[in-house]
Amino acid sequence: MSITSSRDGTTVTLATLREMKQRGEKFTCLTAYDASFASVLEDAGIEVLLVGDSLGNVIQGHDTTLPVTLTDMIYHTRCVSRGRRRALIMVDMPFMSDAVTDQALNNAARLLKEGGAHIVKLEGGEVMAATIRLLSERGIPVCAHLGLLPQSIHKLGSYRVQGRDSQSADKILADAATLVKMGADMLLLECVPAQLTEKIVKAVDVPVIGIGAGPACDAQVLVLYDMLGITPGKRPKFSRDFLQDHHSVHEAVMAYVKAVKRGEFPGPEHTFN
Ligand code: KIV
Repeated sequence: MSITSSRDGTTVTLATLREMKQRGEKFTCLTAYDASFASVLEDAGIEVLLVGDSLGNVIQGHDTTLPVTLTDMIYHTRCVSRGRRRALIMVDMPFMSDAVTDQALNNAARLLKEGGAHIVKLEGGEVMAATIRLLSERGIPVCAHLGLLPQSIHKLGSYRVQGRDSQSADKILADAATLVKMGADMLLLECVPAQLTEKIVKAVDVPVIGIGAGPACDAQVLVLYDMLGITPGKRPKFSRDFLQDHHSVHEAVMAYVKAVKRGEFPGPEHTFN
């Protein structure tokens, strides 16, 4: 099996990821919040560095991602940009920074202009359609985050699998199609049943990244600290401690890249049905 990755020396762009999808070749994503890890991750073959608002949990020690500010995201994106050479940098729009369409345009532009992001990620279904259309029309690439939306935790009540009944599954599927039509360049599915993921991957022509969404996705993402086994408390079912059997972060990340590209991760034990 040929394994293409950012280790080949070519810059990763949206076109690279689309071509990989067309070839049926998986790509890999991990969260990164600083220059040192950005450099280690891309040396180990990671194609997409996600400056996730999970930094609110793992860096800042909050219970939720809600307190994370745009200033925090710009700061960490700048740090990651300095350590990155080839990988694509995707950055979360923090809680409510995308709630008003015009402000979302301004805030997303700041993540690109001041931080060095290449694509922004925002949480939400059909309600984000107008914002995604505007950003897309103004040349800002967007990844639409569907399924479990951590920024809606107070509405949801708990971090649980979404789309388990047919009504909510149909809604997520319809939202995915709508947002791609509005210009979303990628989708990210968090904690949805593998069967729903399969339908979404078949229904859209953009790359689909998954976390707790089963093996059908074009790419996988994990929170770096979860896959290094250093997040306090219980590790989520969909994650795996790759450092456990390896001697360095570099080796652990290489093992993750290999496992994703070979279709060995996520396995049935990391997947919801
Ligand atoms: O913020 C983050 O780390 C994320 C992942 C859970 C995908 O959005």
